[in-house]
Amino acid sequence: MTKNIQTMLQTLTLEEKAMLCIGKDVWHLHGIEHLDMPSIMMTDGPHGLRKQVGEGDHVGLNDAVPATCFPTGPGLAASWNTTFIEKMGVALGKECRAQGVSVLLGPGANIKRNPLGGRNFEYFSEDPLLAGDIAAAWIKGVQSQGVGASLKHYAVNNHEHCRMTVDVIIDQRTLREIYLPAFEKAVTTTQPWTVMCSYNKVNGTFAAENKILLDDILVKDWGFKGIVVTDWGANNNRVEGIKHGQHLEMPGSGDLNTKKIIAAIENGQLTTQELDKSVARILELILKAKTSLNEEKVAVDLNAHHKLAASIAQESCVLLKNENFLPISIDKKIAVIGELANNTRYQGAGSSKINPFTVEQPLDEIKKIFGRDNVSYTAGYHINDMEDAAEQKRAMTLAEQADVVFLFVGLTPKYESEGFDRQHLDLPQVQLDLINALENQLSKTVVVLQNGAPITLPFVDEVPAILEAYLGGQAGASAIAKILSGEVNPSGKLAETFPLALEDVPSQPYFPGTTKQVQYRESIWVGYRYFDTTKTKVLFPFGHGLSYTTFDYSNVRLSGDTLQGQSAQLDRHNLIKVSVTITNTGDRAGAEVVQCYVGQATPSQPRPKKELKAFKKVFLAAGESQVIELELDYRAFAYWNSKQSAWLAESNDYTISLGSSVEDIRDAVIVTLKTDTPLAPANTALKTYFEPAKRDFHDEAFIALLGHSIPQEIPLTPYHLNSTIGEIANTSLGKPLFDSMLAIFNTMMGAGANDSAAEASRLMAQALVVDMPLRNLPVFNPQYYTEAQIVQIINALNKLENKQKDKQ
Ligand code: BGC
Repeated sequence: MTKNIQTMLQTLTLEEKAMLCIGKDVWHLHGIEHLDMPSIMMTDGPHGLRKQVGEGDHVGLNDAVPATCFPTGPGLAASWNTTFIEKMGVALGKECRAQGVSVLLGPGANIKRNPLGGRNFEYFSEDPLLAGDIAAAWIKGVQSQGVGASLKHYAVNNHEHCRMTVDVIIDQRTLREIYLPAFEKAVTTTQPWTVMCSYNKVNGTFAAENKILLDDILVKDWGFKGIVVTDWGANNNRVEGIKHGQHLEMPGSGDLNTKKIIAAIENGQLTTQELDKSVARILELILKAKTSLNEEKVAVDLNAHHKLAASIAQESCVLLKNENFLPISIDKKIAVIGELANNTRYQGAGSSKINPFTVEQPLDEIKKIFGRDNVSYTAGYHINDMEDAAEQKRAMTLAEQADVVFLFVGLTPKYESEGFDRQHLDLPQVQLDLINALENQLSKTVVVLQNGAPITLPFVDEVPAILEAYLGGQAGASAIAKILSGEVNPSGKLAETFPLALEDVPSQPYFPGTTKQVQYRESIWVGYRYFDTTKTKVLFPFGHGLSYTTFDYSNVRLSGDTLQGQSAQLDRHNLIKVSVTITNTGDRAGAEVVQCYVGQATPSQPRPKKELKAFKKVFLAAGESQVIELELDYRAFAYWNSKQSAWLAESNDYTISLGSSVEDIRDAVIVTLKTDTPLAPANTALKTYFEPAKRDFHDEAFIALLGHSIPQEIPLTPYHLNSTIGEIANTSLGKPLFDSMLAIFNTMMGAGANDSAAEASRLMAQALVVDMPLRNLPVFNPQYYTEAQIVQIINALNKLENKQKDKQ
């Protein structure tokens, strides 16, 4: 703690200290006038700045200032281009500076456990290394501008259903190997100014007051120096939060929790040192922010940011399939079909929804390249899912008359949004119907997908080309058009697996769990770790993405100080280097993502056959070669040993594979490592986890994995402050409360209109209200409810419940 902060602490009253630990309103912290500490602003994130004009209303109606909308998480990760992501961060930082915003709420580094996760469109990957590198680049860029990041949502917030109260039951090894490393990488390499803790509980304790997550791991293990801010409304018990490393509660909760902090100090439940620890970190944050606020305002060149968004979008598109069909020569007669071509979906729904200063439409961009006269268009389907036979007919006629069809399909807002999970992996039925109607034209059809997460593609064998454009931001449309025409050579690679069917996903039987508990029984078998190890056929594998050129891998070599032949002594400081020559063997410039996977030969613990441990994107002119060098350290070979609380790399053989996707391995070498850990015998207690293909993660197996019994779910009654509005909605006292909250949220989120965005808002409003714990009513609606009133309602509900029980 600096002297300056120590002096400030001495000058602050207890009331001021308590106040500093709680937001002033939806987006601001309290300032302290006599210390010349300003009230600073934090706001969303992550793929653009969402600074609301006028009064803040969280996920609500009030418009935000115009800003640049970049591609969302999956597209950014599919670029595998950390240099670009860092540049995007710089641009975001500048837009924040110009608007006086001190902390941008992002990036989201949660792992995509299951493709149904409602917020997958905002997250990066199913792989922690890739997610961590992308998150770190984002933060580095933003913070280079004197603006803080807020790495979120820490931790294991992998679905939306009952996200505010659900308890994630997970074993320590899975936590450390799958769900935490992206956070760890970002924290240890970039020191984000803030980390946002998630809504959910982890192993029985809310993330907002979870000592293991916040203090033991984040601060002690990783050396985090910034502040932990709650997700909006994630605070459960403010005093417990302070004790265990949650520094700032957002949004403000009036004086509700300030009073509780003061009382806790007065009655000895909280010590001044404990409170000062939080206050000191918050003062440090405000000081950092103040330095930027005092500097000259930054001028933003929005047009330059648009160009940057376009370049990133070009690298975010993934060419999933191409039977020598693309690119299309610009003299062809094109039929553009699908409402999404003219009403593009370029970002997701929820708190990340920003107000772009301009949005390109694919149809316009295609016309620019292929010529107005060569391009015809019809919607073919409606994004509000209304059936329209006449539209389908028009689409069939246009398709018949064209040389090539560009068919735009994807997920509309009601199919993926913050607040609720997806129900299935399919495209909307109206779109599937259109594709069926176009059956005879599919052999000349390029399908362009706009969606934030994997979908099933029953027509995959019928069409010659498929381009995954993800949610490409405001300049995503020109990227699509340029790739279709060949002006840009696609270079995106999937950062997630596209499964053939939902049933193939190992977490599916336990997803999303009940309203109270979700068990991560599948353990480390997430994404390609499962599909690749079990040789389960997928639609498109992790790391997959085609190019208009071809790349050759040659001369794979290992080197390292301790390497002798194919053996090496590996300690916690030295490295093994892998080099490979990549040659562009085609006739046009392009980029390849070289992926390096590691797998242990005979591990004592269940381990995937391959895990991504390094990657590099390389740009090569036609005919050009480059030697790529990748580094593997001790950790690249290690697993998390829960008993010893340590990373251990066993002395064993390891296969190092280099490839263009997890399935397309071009070369592999085996290295024998001698480490500080002798190879242990196979852990027979985890037998079924060694055989993931059986997917037999029964009670006993899960207990062995956890190292303790499976915790009981909290019963629905007696009701308490963490009962949700949904849980009491069917009671006589709960029903009016539910109805009035729903009305408030519907209005706040503009759910009244008759379009597809409003339909998504209605679904989200409903989900937010259903999932809201009663403790949050006085936080979000202090004008309607006090905590005392809520406690009264709970007591009355429990009395009624008891009476009914007595009657039975
Ligand atoms: C979301 C966060 C977001 C915050 C503020 C929450 O509902 O989970 O990601 O940053 O709201 O809008």
